[in-house]
Amino acid sequence: MSWSTERLSDDERTLQETLRTTGRLPRHVAVIMDGNGRWAEHHGRPRIDGHREGMESVRDIVKTSSQTGVRFLTLYAFSMENWKRPVTEVNFLMSLLESYIEREIDELHDNGVRLRTIGKTSALPKSVRRILTNAIERTRDNEGLTLTLALSYGARWDLLQAMQMIALDVRRGKVSPEDLTEEMISQYLTTQGLPDPDFVIRTSGELRLSNFLLWESAYAEIYVTERLWPDFRRQDYYRALCDYARRERRFGKTSAQVAADGGKGAEGASDQRTLLDKILHAIR
Ligand code: FPP
Repeated sequence: MSWSTERLSDDERTLQETLRTTGRLPRHVAVIMDGNGRWAEHHGRPRIDGHREGMESVRDIVKTSSQTGVRFLTLYAFSMENWKRPVTEVNFLMSLLESYIEREIDELHDNGVRLRTIGKTSALPKSVRRILTNAIERTRDNEGLTLTLALSYGARWDLLQAMQMIALDVRRGKVSPEDLTEEMISQYLTTQGLPDPDFVIRTSGELRLSNFLLWESAYAEIYVTERLWPDFRRQDYYRALCDYARRERRFGKTSAQVAADGGKGAEGASDQRTLLDKILHAIR
């Protein structure tokens, strides 16, 4: 099914177009998908049902990102620390990941999605690695949304393995310590090639980064919603994107400097913001 020709309400279509044309759409959105367990508990169901329902949110947010024009979406699907969970839950998450790829790969590919992963994927079960490798290979030349799954990922692990590689390259004489730059460090991380996230969304109200993209999120805007991940669907996502569109990103400069640079400052955008508010209200 082609996502771009899907029938949407006029209001939703206008909202997507407005977000695109304001130039205030984040290029890279990264999401800490939290609250699956609590969702299940609230519904009197086992934790795994929360993960299963969370997969439906993944499907909706991936499609909405692609339709709206977000270029990069990174999902924190399994952290390094998640290995400490009961083995039955870990196994379930692995099988869910397999079935997500198996079920969705044709549609992702047909819609131009390029799949990649970050993290210590060598720790994943062989069957998961095989499915991921095939999916990544199949979608590698796609030019639409880049969907990155953070799997067996921890930012500190990524920084550690990068430092080990840098140290080896110093020893081999390929790099000299005094020439090391921030850009070079980024090249050694598993996020290599991805732009830094502009917008980090965390669901379920927790005010933590939980070892997610610590280096890359240095200047990211952060958005926390009380919504539990399985309940976080496109309306909530639009609300978050509109919130981002209202923000002024200064990167350490003053507001006046940002405006003088012709940047996306707080001034001059009030009409667009009013429009976004109006449409968002209409589609609620
Ligand atoms: C956090 O909720 C969520 C996870 C550890 C797993 C995320 C997995 C999914 C959303 C489903 C499948 C994903 C893909 C990419 C197919 P939690 O269990 O920590 O919730 P809690 O804090 O309420 O217990």
